Amino acid sequence: MTSEIVNSALSKVLYPGFTKDIVTFGFVNSIEINGNDVSFTVDITSSAPEVANQIKDDATEELKAVGAGNITINIKSPKMPEAPKPKSKNLAPHIKNFLMVSSGKGGVGKSTTSVNIAIALAAQGKKVGILDADIYGPNIPRMLGVSNIKPEVTGNKVLPIKAYGIEMMSMGSLMEDGQSLMWRGAMIMKAIEQFLRDILWSELDVLVIDMPPGTGDAQLTLAQSVPVTAGLTVTTPQSVSLDDSRRSLDMFRKLNIPIAGIIENMSGFIAPDTGVEYDIFGKGTSGPMAEEFNTKIIAEIPIEPSIRTGGDEGKPITFVNPTSESAKRYMAAAESIWATIEAVNANGGASNESVQPTTPPGVSACSM
Ligand SMILES: Nc1ncnc2c1ncn2[C@@H]1O[C@H](COP(=O)(O)OP(=O)(O)OP(=O)(O)O)[C@@H](O)[C@H]1O
Ligand SMILES: [Mg+2]
Repeated sequence: MTSEIVNSALSKVLYPGFTKDIVTFGFVNSIEINGNDVSFTVDITSSAPEVANQIKDDATEELKAVGAGNITINIKSPKMPEAPKPKSKNLAPHIKNFLMVSSGKGGVGKSTTSVNIAIALAAQGKKVGILDADIYGPNIPRMLGVSNIKPEVTGNKVLPIKAYGIEMMSMGSLMEDGQSLMWRGAMIMKAIEQFLRDILWSELDVLVIDMPPGTGDAQLTLAQSVPVTAGLTVTTPQSVSLDDSRRSLDMFRKLNIPIAGIIENMSGFIAPDTGVEYDIFGKGTSGPMAEEFNTKIIAEIPIEPSIRTGGDEGKPITFVNPTSESAKRYMAAAESIWATIEAVNANGGASNESVQPTTPPGVSACSM
């Protein structure tokens, strides 16, 4: 075997997709011949494995045809370019922090909690907004006593509605009374994005976001649209509800959202006449779950008739009766939440980089 024979055999190997061969391209080098054994290197510009394999196959065939023995082909190709890393995304970068209020189950008091925590944070000097992301059953406008107010529109943006010193926006304020829409997944995503991008929120210290119950499209979309600083889970002491709450905490974990704690709502009962507190479903039953998720119960809010009437009449207890036991507990919970938010920020801040869709455009990223 001579290098002339090898060169002429390899001159018949076309570079895949081209009419020029690998020798003419100058890709072949370091040819070594030992008796009939041949080894050489092919330096190619493509990182596609199909290209390398085809060159190997074709070269082997040509060399065998001219009587080569052992053939060793070393293909050098550039490394596959790494897929660009998704970056943290924030559709409302002028809002400093986002607090997501969530529960596995409906009716446990998310909206009541969101409203009272928002008001407590505002009472503690923060600039606060509340976003009603419950697109199916928006009831924040009623709870803040602004259900008859329609928002002002400037250009193609919408001004939030103001109530009790906080800014608010809800699908309930954008639709006509009694109107309902059938929402599909893609529409929910769009609605949530618009709530963040097209509402003229001030430079808020924190936007409290009241979620629909469960762990679905709305939660994932929100987590992908803004870096959620902290998540708050609302639960009731009954164990059925607790299983659902575990799902809500697990969702925060999966979405990489720091957990600000658990509010155990309807925990005991305060009799309006005597002010005596009774334990009905059990109190503090969420304790073990809190521990499991390395967090704590930041408030036990009793069943208090004035919490419900306050909600129905648009007079949140934390605002209209700040000396009540429940209001004091909401205030303490708000302080604890703020401490978590500060701790998250001191630790480099929230990022939603890890939950960005990595699939190419057009491919569904719905499975979590
Ligand atoms: N601690 C409480 N004491 C008395 N009533 C309460 C308390 N918490 C909530 N409620 C009442 O319970 C009902 C359900 O509360 P809320 O609407 O806040 O729950 P939710 O979790 O947001 O429900 P949904 O899943 O439907 O959005 C409301 O009528 C509210 O006023
Ligand atoms: Mg609600």
